[in-house]
Amino acid sequence: MSIVTCIAPVNIAVIKYWGKRDENLILPVNDSISATLDTEHLCARTTIMASPEFKEDRIWLNGKEQSINNKRLQNCLIGMRKRAQISNDMECWKIHICSENNFPTAAGLASSAAGYACLVAALAKLYKVEGDISAVARSGSGSACRSMMGGFVRWHMGSDPKGSDSLAKQIVSPSHWPEMRVLVLVVNDGRKKVSSALGMKRSIETSELLKYRAEHVVPRRANEMNEAILQKNFEKFAELTIKDSNQMHAVCQDTYPPCHYMNDVSFTLVNLAHSYNSAANEIKVAYTCDAGPNVTVYILEKNVAEFISILDFYIPPADDLTVEYRKGIPIQLISPKQDLIEKINLEKQVPGLLKYIIHTRVGDGPKYLSDQKDHLLDTKMGLPIRSLTHQ
Ligand code: DP6
Repeated sequence: MSIVTCIAPVNIAVIKYWGKRDENLILPVNDSISATLDTEHLCARTTIMASPEFKEDRIWLNGKEQSINNKRLQNCLIGMRKRAQISNDMECWKIHICSENNFPTAAGLASSAAGYACLVAALAKLYKVEGDISAVARSGSGSACRSMMGGFVRWHMGSDPKGSDSLAKQIVSPSHWPEMRVLVLVVNDGRKKVSSALGMKRSIETSELLKYRAEHVVPRRANEMNEAILQKNFEKFAELTIKDSNQMHAVCQDTYPPCHYMNDVSFTLVNLAHSYNSAANEIKVAYTCDAGPNVTVYILEKNVAEFISILDFYIPPADDLTVEYRKGIPIQLISPKQDLIEKINLEKQVPGLLKYIIHTRVGDGPKYLSDQKDHLLDTKMGLPIRSLTHQ
């Protein structure tokens, strides 16, 4: 038998992928750009074991067995088995896959990108596949191709109808902009949402604005973003990030029937970010939202403590916290500056609108874990070792 374990990062787009030109091949209508987040705070972990004893391929996700016949999963399995570089008959052995996230699944964070990136990275190790495998990750979930590398990453839409040039490429490594920090603001929300796959399908079918965005806005904006990252120009980076997130959600509103992902708390955070930037007389924070109400903030390290003091003042944590509220890199807590509070002058919110905050940084791509104790499957039976602790 053979067993491998891998971890892979979450990524948060600053130029959004929203809309496919080919549903089957998962080819986008525009380029997108994201930052890969540090796996220390947010990651998927996957163990894959291959054995001649196994009767069938099986998969467990976050503690529960799932159907292996999911189309996107099969895209990845078939794609990697085709590329396998092994000389023994392991290629024909059945595999057991066990995958989990190190963050609560209920948080509504885009977990499919990290999950598919991790699956593909682990399959690459198992089958000794070399070269660019971002296209295989893309066939699981579009945004997953950007989680195949660290730093800032651009997914080039490509022009080949078969998708051979629709690949993710690193713009810069994580060490290029070490002052960059990310705050994931996890919003309390129980609504059932329209999946991003369904939302973008509807947008492609009905939104005029999406056509305009893909043809006339993103090509220029993605190049400007690329340049802002290379130059470490935070103000430009922040402005483009904000505008692109708002345009993606405008497209969602322009979709028929419309998809609403942001909620009142998201919009309260958006107002707070703009008021804070104008009170500071400088763009100090950028926000972005994906297919859910959570807000991700990009900010320079030197401004984190000040922004958190303002955030805690206007949107205080719940009085009866049951979970750790500030996760990730420790934050120095300071009192909010009186002059900033006076300039911002917004209404103070009731405590508890946010579930918690994750403070993280830009990090590396997938990693292999070689220690026996990191495996999620037991090496005798190939069954999950423990049930999930993060719910
Ligand atoms: C809003 O990658 O989840 O997060 O390709 O259908 O799996 P599929 O979609 P997915 O879309 C994510 C879209 C987004 C924006 C982004 O990450 O660029």
